Amino acid sequence: MELGISGRVALVTGSSQGIGFGVAQALAAEGAYVILNGRDSDRLAQARSLLGHAACSVIAGDLSQAEQVPQVIEKASGIRGRIDILINNAGSTPAGRIEDVSDEDWYRSIDLKLLGYVRCMRALLPAMRSQKWGRIVNIIGSAGYQPRATYIAGSAINAALLSLTKGLASEAAADNVLINGISPGPIRTQRWLDQIAHRARLEGTTKEKLEARASQITPVGRVGKPEDIAGLTVFLCSERASFITGGLFDVDGGGRVGI
Ligand SMILES: NC(=O)c1ccc[n+]([C@@H]2O[C@H](COP(=O)([O-])OP(=O)(O)OC[C@H]3O[C@@H](n4cnc5c(N)ncnc54)[C@H](OP(=O)(O)O)[C@@H]3O)[C@@H](O)[C@H]2O)c1
Repeated sequence: MELGISGRVALVTGSSQGIGFGVAQALAAEGAYVILNGRDSDRLAQARSLLGHAACSVIAGDLSQAEQVPQVIEKASGIRGRIDILINNAGSTPAGRIEDVSDEDWYRSIDLKLLGYVRCMRALLPAMRSQKWGRIVNIIGSAGYQPRATYIAGSAINAALLSLTKGLASEAAADNVLINGISPGPIRTQRWLDQIAHRARLEGTTKEKLEARASQITPVGRVGKPEDIAGLTVFLCSERASFITGGLFDVDGGGRVGI
């Protein structure tokens, strides 16, 4: 299938590893020009070299810091004169029950995962709307509508993102800017491994047991890989998805409940 996005310019936030990197690889394979972002410059350089000869740039920046978001967006927009595709992916919310998550952790999570996504969309939507072509995919998380007491901050913040995605999509569609959300199930990335290690400490168990439990409760019998998320993300960015907006999709191996 010809996806029709060769030459499109994509900014993927939080893409030096994990899901973001998987999405960046898949976009590059379709001929898109990819701009990678993350905080750590060495990790970004390594990611760029893994992309090999694909057309790409890197921009270091901490998207939890309000003043850095416009800097990242300005630099990214300057590389090719426009951004066609935004993948909002840089996010991290701690596992834990309400008594485990401090105000500082709440603020840190909201600043990155909620306001980081808001600020990137607010900065890029006007240009996407005036060029009459744009694709935004927000990487969210199913706890937004399957809330869990043991992942209370992620549940609340993801609920806000699901709502934000659908609400904005209804307005931007008139200018051919399509906005969708993907909720990954358990995807074996560094963040997921850190999270289950943290959960294991809180619950007095081992991360190996939690990892095994995650595979058992996922109907396809395994946890996911970043490329499992990348396929749908790239499709939603394509010309083939021109009638899909405001969609909220689960990519979770059929599982609906987290560990
Ligand atoms: N993995 C899962 O099972 C899962 C499930 C549901 C939802 N998600 C969501 O998927 C997204 C990606 O998760 P992941 O598991 O792929 O994480 P990951 O493997 O830890 O990768 C996170 C990426 O984001 C970058 N990053 C972290 N903080 C950042 C910041 N403040 N500003 C800019 N970049 C930042 C990291 O690089 P630096 O550290 O160098 O900045 C890294 O490139 C997150 O929004 C997460 O909530 C993941």
